Amino acid sequence: MDDQFARDIMHGLSSTPKYLSSKYFYDKQGDLLFQKIMNLEEYYLTRCEYEIFQNQKDQLLQQFSKDTCPFDLIEFGAGDGKKTKVLLEYFLQQGADFSYKPIDISRNALELLAKDLRKSLPGLDLETLQGEYFDVLSHAKSEPNRRKVVLFLGSNIGNFLKPVAVKFLSQLANSLSQKDLLLIGVDLVKDPKTIARAYNDSQGITREFNLNLLTRINRDLGADFDLDNFDHFPIYNPITGTARSFLISRAKQTVSIERLNASFHFEAWEPVHTEYSHKYRIDELAGLADESGFKVVNNYFDSKMNFVDCLWQLDD
Ligand SMILES: C[S@@+](CC[C@H](N)C(=O)[O-])C[C@H]1O[C@@H](n2cnc3c(N)ncnc32)[C@H](O)[C@@H]1O
Repeated sequence: MDDQFARDIMHGLSSTPKYLSSKYFYDKQGDLLFQKIMNLEEYYLTRCEYEIFQNQKDQLLQQFSKDTCPFDLIEFGAGDGKKTKVLLEYFLQQGADFSYKPIDISRNALELLAKDLRKSLPGLDLETLQGEYFDVLSHAKSEPNRRKVVLFLGSNIGNFLKPVAVKFLSQLANSLSQKDLLLIGVDLVKDPKTIARAYNDSQGITREFNLNLLTRINRDLGADFDLDNFDHFPIYNPITGTARSFLISRAKQTVSIERLNASFHFEAWEPVHTEYSHKYRIDELAGLADESGFKVVNNYFDSKMNFVDCLWQLDD
């Protein structure tokens, strides 16, 4: 357990309204639950991006290896890498000159990913990097003659509201050079009922995933959250295009956190914000690229136009 986690929980639960950062969902149990979420009928995002990679892997390889430049695939928040594996397999088959450097805050996810890839793709040039995106990006050293291709998939960018997304992408732009590329997977605005279902599945897996954050705080910080006293509450606002998840305190209660040497009071029905999942219209994405110092090279859609993988490079 690191001090940053303790500091962030202290800050989030001392704020009004209370919040917990979604980056802390991913402990061992959270990783497992997220894999289950990706297999849910209601969670269409993974299937859409998988289809894009299956159908357009050749076009992607042509862009990544343009001018016969060797490239380093650097993936932000790789998770189990299920979709990326479609690309890795194909690129190896085609004899492409590339390496794969997945970055993830979850040590467990990276260990499982490395184990799987070493077995299933033994020829892959692989280097895993554990930590926060930008803290470890500088360790992903590329030779100057190699192209960096940053993958930011699964609509992870939607976990930031637009102004924070612009800041994040501008910071990324500052660490890239003219020949580098960014492939960013983004969930698009669609029927609000479809979006709402993706965060409130019928089997209650997303509920378990959200509540697991409290189990993690109980375990890692010695807290006494009673999970029966909290509920999962997701909501999608079609005006702002943002789905939000909350944990709702079902009763007036006080929770102690031993490692923080602190107690936190919750009113009945008080919300704790845990996640943003922002959805974009396709015309907004060119603006997002522009505001962050990028230009659009190409957009790759699934057959239902539910999701897009945007290929961007630095604006000259
Ligand atoms: C929603 S999952 C998506 C996984 C994968 N990109 C996909 O599309 O299936 C988010 C992943 O990003 C990682 N993650 C979240 N916030 C992070 C951060 N600030 N730095 C590094 N990794 C992060 C999580 O551990 C998790 O594996």
